[in-house]
Amino acid sequence: MPSGPRILITAGPTHEPIDAVRYIGNRSSGRLGRAIADAAETADCPATLLLGPVTEPPRDQKTPHEAAVIRFRRTHDLQELIRNHWPAHDILIMAAAVCDFMPASEMPGKGPRRSGPVSLDLIPTPDLLQEAASTSRSDQTLIGFALEASSELEQKAREKLKRKGVHAIVANPLDTMDSDTIDGLLLLPDGPSHAPGGPLPKEAFAAWLIDRILELHAER
Ligand code: CTP
Repeated sequence: MPSGPRILITAGPTHEPIDAVRYIGNRSSGRLGRAIADAAETADCPATLLLGPVTEPPRDQKTPHEAAVIRFRRTHDLQELIRNHWPAHDILIMAAAVCDFMPASEMPGKGPRRSGPVSLDLIPTPDLLQEAASTSRSDQTLIGFALEASSELEQKAREKLKRKGVHAIVANPLDTMDSDTIDGLLLLPDGPSHAPGGPLPKEAFAAWLIDRILELHAER
């Protein structure tokens, strides 16, 4: 039986339906989040992975390291899952690439193709990380993510650390998305911590990250 803190990890994109077949989404693969769930289990921490609609075949209900996997599609599905699962966990790692906007309404059935331009009314999605931060207990640790251009990575991550009310931000350069490696950093209130050795495979970065996050949680 794993004995470390219970870790809730979100990963992958959200899909916001336009109609029965079309959606707004993004190119997140969920791979880093899955690697983090595996690293958490390897570090003897019970992990729950909330995994979005990634296109690779789902690993059924278990990862190789036995993290429980629960699937979601829309931002609102993920919101409900976080509300239900966050109270029973100690650490939230919010790696999901949540869509910032969703269609104001979903068209029933499949909308027909039109010959002219089509416009879509979009409304903002709720900020799930901010909501989790506002409902968390003082013994819980929250980690957000930031995906930004390398040139402004640290500055944007610093802004997000303040704005989201979290304990640390994992900052990734934009090119992480299509890469097997990651050159990210963990931004803590007292400064950035860089993974040693430059760009690392996502699995190695995840193992380094889990160690840092467990240290941060133990210090708090
Ligand atoms: N996030 C969230 N809910 C949203 C949007 C983002 O919980 N509706 C979380 C992400 O999972 C991530 C963090 O907030 O952990 C930062 O996401 P990001 O998209 O980089 O930031 P935004 O809040 O969208 O801010 P902006 O894009 O304006 O910089």
